[in-house]
This record gives sequence, C-alpha cells and structure tokens, in this order.
Amino acid sequence: MSKIEKSQKVLGLKYPIVSLSPMDGITDSPFRQIIKKYGNPDIIFTEFTHVQGLLMAPWNTLKHFYYEEVERPVIAQIYGQDPELFYHATKIVIALGFDGVDINMGCPAKKVRAAGSGAALIRTPDIAREIIFQVKRGVNDWVKDGKLTGMSNKAMKTVEANVTIFRNRLKKMNIEVDNNSNFKGRQNLIGKCIEIPVSVKTRIGYDEPVTESWIKNLEKESPEWISIHGRTLKQMYGGGADWDELKKAVEITDIPIMTNGDVKEFSDIKKMLDHTGSIGVLVGRASFGNPWVFNKDYENMEISQEEKIRVMIEHAELFDQLNDSEEKAFVQMRKHFGWYMKGFDRAKELRSKLVRVRSLSDLKESLKEFS
Ligand SMILES: Cc1cc2nc3c(=O)[nH]c(=O)nc-3n(C[C@H](O)[C@H](O)[C@H](O)COP(=O)(O)O)c2cc1C
Repeated sequence: MSKIEKSQKVLGLKYPIVSLSPMDGITDSPFRQIIKKYGNPDIIFTEFTHVQGLLMAPWNTLKHFYYEEVERPVIAQIYGQDPELFYHATKIVIALGFDGVDINMGCPAKKVRAAGSGAALIRTPDIAREIIFQVKRGVNDWVKDGKLTGMSNKAMKTVEANVTIFRNRLKKMNIEVDNNSNFKGRQNLIGKCIEIPVSVKTRIGYDEPVTESWIKNLEKESPEWISIHGRTLKQMYGGGADWDELKKAVEITDIPIMTNGDVKEFSDIKKMLDHTGSIGVLVGRASFGNPWVFNKDYENMEISQEEKIRVMIEHAELFDQLNDSEEKAFVQMRKHFGWYMKGFDRAKELRSKLVRVRSLSDLKESLKEFS
C-alpha cells in the first residue's frame, strides 16, 4: 500500500498528515482551538484521560473531553491498565461524539508506569493487545446497540448530567444545541452512531529500543494507525528522538505509522517525513506559544509581538470561559504566557508580572503598556 493510500486510512486524510500531539496539562480545548485557528493541523488529540476516571465521570474529568466543533477531527486519548475498563470507557468516548479513540501506551510518568499503564504496557505485550481488542469491541458493540455499560446507575446519571452541563455551556456561549444529541455532536448519547477508528500512541521501547517486536505485537490487533515517539520510556523527554528507529517501524509493518519526536520547527516536518517514510508527523512542544508552527507559510511569517499578545489574550479568554473565571484554574495559564513571550522586548519585566496574574482582568491590565 502506498503512503497516500495509507494516509487515507486515517480519517480519509491526505498525505502528509500533520497533527498536534496529545499533551497532558496543555492540549485542553482552549489551546486546541487556538492551534486549530492559527496553525490548522490535520488532526488534534485531547490530553490523556484515565479510563476509570471517565467511568466515574466527574466534571473535572469530563472537562478534558470538552471540545468545540471547530476542533474536528478531534481524537480522545485514554489510558489505563485494565482492558475491561477500556471497553466501557470507549463507549463514553463515542457517546461524546469524538472522531477517534487513541490508546496511550507511551506515557513515562512514574505514577502512570507504576500502575502498569502508559509506556509500561511495552513490558506487558499481552495486556497491550487485549486493550486494543477491548477498545475495538467497545466500538463494535456501541454501533450495534448504542448502550453505555460498566457504570453504576449513579455514574451513568452523572455522565448524562455532565452532558447537560456541556449543553448549557454551549447555550450560554450562544451556540445552537440540538437537545436530542450530546454536545451537538453527531451521535446521540443513547442512539446509534458511526464507527470510529482505534489508534495507539507509543514509544520505541522501555529501557532500550524494541521497535520491531513491539510494533509486530501491536500489529496483531490491527489498530487503524500507530503514532510512535522516537524515545524509550527511560529517556523520558531527554536525549534525542531516534528517527532511525522510527524509519524501522515504518518499514516493518503495513499499519500506517505517524512519527513523533523533536520536530522543532516547520521545516523539520518535511525532514522527518523524508527520513522515516511515515504518513504523518505529530508535533508537541514546538507548539508551545507558537500555534503558527503548523502553518504552511510559517517560514515566511513574521509574527509581531502585538499579534502574539492578541492571541495570548484570545487564548486566556477561551480558558476563562471554560473554567467559569475560576482564579485557581487561571493559574494554569501562566506557563502559556511564558511561552508566548519568548523573544519579546522587555520580556523579563513582563514575565515578572505575568507569573503573578490570577485572572483575565489581571492579564489585560499587565499587558496594557506592552501592546
Ligand atoms: C507536558 C507534556 C505532556 C504530555 N502528555 C502526553 C499525553 O497526555 N499523551 C501522550 O500520548 N503523550 C504526551 N506527551 C508526549 C507528547 O505527545 C510527544 O510525544 C513528545 O512531547 C515528543 O514530541 P515533541 O518532541 O514534538 O514534543 C506529553 C509531552 C509533554 C511535554
């Protein structure tokens, strides 16, 4: 199968596919909306969300899965260790109207790997395969009967109540809502729905690269595509991503492969595609404070300080709206301010102000003399 044909297996997209990588604590809906508007990558992923948390469905968890129509195609990433929970959680993902479900087999964080989740699954290949199997079964069963399962009645009511919260929020923002469907997505919460693709995002190994055996293992369950970050778990985010291992992954399987790791600027996207032969590239950290990095015209673009400040405020406004102007939550925006400000005149002076802002009005006040 050619690269072009393989790329079309990914949501019918054209080669090459450029995607925003999932990032916990970063790729929430406000960030994704900004990325979509100024960079317009082909696909975006949510932050990873635990299957167990999803089944209990408190607002704080479901908030990770809030999205706007403009973000489509948007893919929900889930993680965990218990295959059965993946089966049930997958149905919630579809009920919420996502375009795809992605399984995290790459997170190296201590808490995640100690529970046997994320990249720790590289050491338990049988469980990894069982998880893919159960996610696919969840998709198939949902298509047959559209029923949520594996939740207490109370949790199911919570999901429904949260869907109502989503609807009301959308209404508050003057977005038209169809009361018979969740969010305003295409799938009814308790009705039939279309099949969505199941993908995996992983790394090249645990403490050393085992690319070939690991990819061959995943291949047995035929995920629609696999995204691979060219580092082992042990490397965390340090050292260099090994693009030769990524090339190897592409060569040994017919499953479409998306590659990831160390794309630092727009020109690296082409370099990675040429080096690895993959059908697409995921961009992570290079997007911090720089949604333009995905833009085809990026190399010729001069983004002024005024423009960056304007986008920073727009981002903060979206965040404030989603979080009901909660000051405790707003603090999470400070890291973004630091990233947008890179290279600013008087950056030091401004940074010292922005590390203290607690609200949108604080932010606007601090920026007044800089724009
Ligand atoms: C702060 C942070 C959070 C991340 N969270 C996730 C996550 O939730 N799910 C995931 O699959 N990868 C996660 N990653 C990994 C990235 O998606 C990506 O694989 C990695 O950063 C390498 O790509 P880059 O060099 O383009 O940043 C995270 C990375 C960072 C820096």
